[in-house]
Amino acid sequence: MNSTPSRISFHDFKPDTGSFCEDVLNGLAQPQKELPPKYFYDPRGCELFEAICELPEYYLTRTETAMMQRLAPEMARCLGEGCVLVEYGSGNSRKTRILLEALRPPVYMPIDIAGDQLRATAAELGQVFPRLEVVAVCADYTRSLSFPEWKSGDVRRTVVYFPGSTIGNLTQAEALAFLRNTVSLVGDGGAMLVGVDLKKDRKVLDAAYDDARGVTAEFNLNLLRRINRELGADFDPARFRHRAFYSEEWSRIEMHLVSVGAQRVSVAGRRFDFRDGETIHTENSCKYSVAEFRELARQAGFRSAQTWTDADHLFSVHYLECLRVSP
Ligand code: TRP
Repeated sequence: MNSTPSRISFHDFKPDTGSFCEDVLNGLAQPQKELPPKYFYDPRGCELFEAICELPEYYLTRTETAMMQRLAPEMARCLGEGCVLVEYGSGNSRKTRILLEALRPPVYMPIDIAGDQLRATAAELGQVFPRLEVVAVCADYTRSLSFPEWKSGDVRRTVVYFPGSTIGNLTQAEALAFLRNTVSLVGDGGAMLVGVDLKKDRKVLDAAYDDARGVTAEFNLNLLRRINRELGADFDPARFRHRAFYSEEWSRIEMHLVSVGAQRVSVAGRRFDFRDGETIHTENSCKYSVAEFRELARQAGFRSAQTWTDADHLFSVHYLECLRVSP
């Protein structure tokens, strides 16, 4: 199937086993019902997410991709030679290709919870970059904190690439803990390149997460379909409505599923009651100013070495270095 199979390895840490059911039951038992967003990404969810990225209202992907096209050579100079490039939540790796093109690292380690898409992407990148060693890791990067062993002689530093403002899907406290973990994973001399969506007019934000064609609504509701299918539940998706809004108080977009009417739903043999208008909180997307994100990175132990933004100040990419502790 692949012309250079020796350059591609796949490590399956079986991220889902056991925890999906537990996480859903636990989330629905909270006073404010919630579901963990990582479960959006079944095959249909991945497809819908890719469609979101192409929506006219969803400026994030377009803006970040254009930034990568313009700035990848400059970013590659910051990162330097001999990087192990680790990517969290690699998805279809479209932006990464631009970076790989400019950086030409010896090793690329995509880590994603969606195994099928990860396999396909790893094989594809192996073809496009025949000299690249691809170490694909199917894992939940919000949980597992170690990298698999790999053997490569010409490696100098580990750099984590975390595009797409996925860091915004963590609360600020979670983001801080996550950045701290990354600091200890990449170690002294390591670095991180992270895409972060910026604060802006709330009308622009609201539209980006509630598009006219209803693709984001479909993406949100797909989570209920997945729970029905995989956990033996009886959610009626027609009786839930997608709602997304910017909260000034929390500086974040919140996505919810709103119950239309009072209803009772059963999930894996447990019953959950919904009042009319009661919501399940499914996602946050926190927005930062450049200064706020730099401060967060500093608190985590990074030095903010470089920040780029687009001309309209919609999106930012931060290059963060892990200080080498001098003896
Ligand atoms: N991290 C991106 C964001 O917050 C992409 C994303 C994650 C997203 N979940 C989403 C976009 C749900 C739309 C809807 O924007």
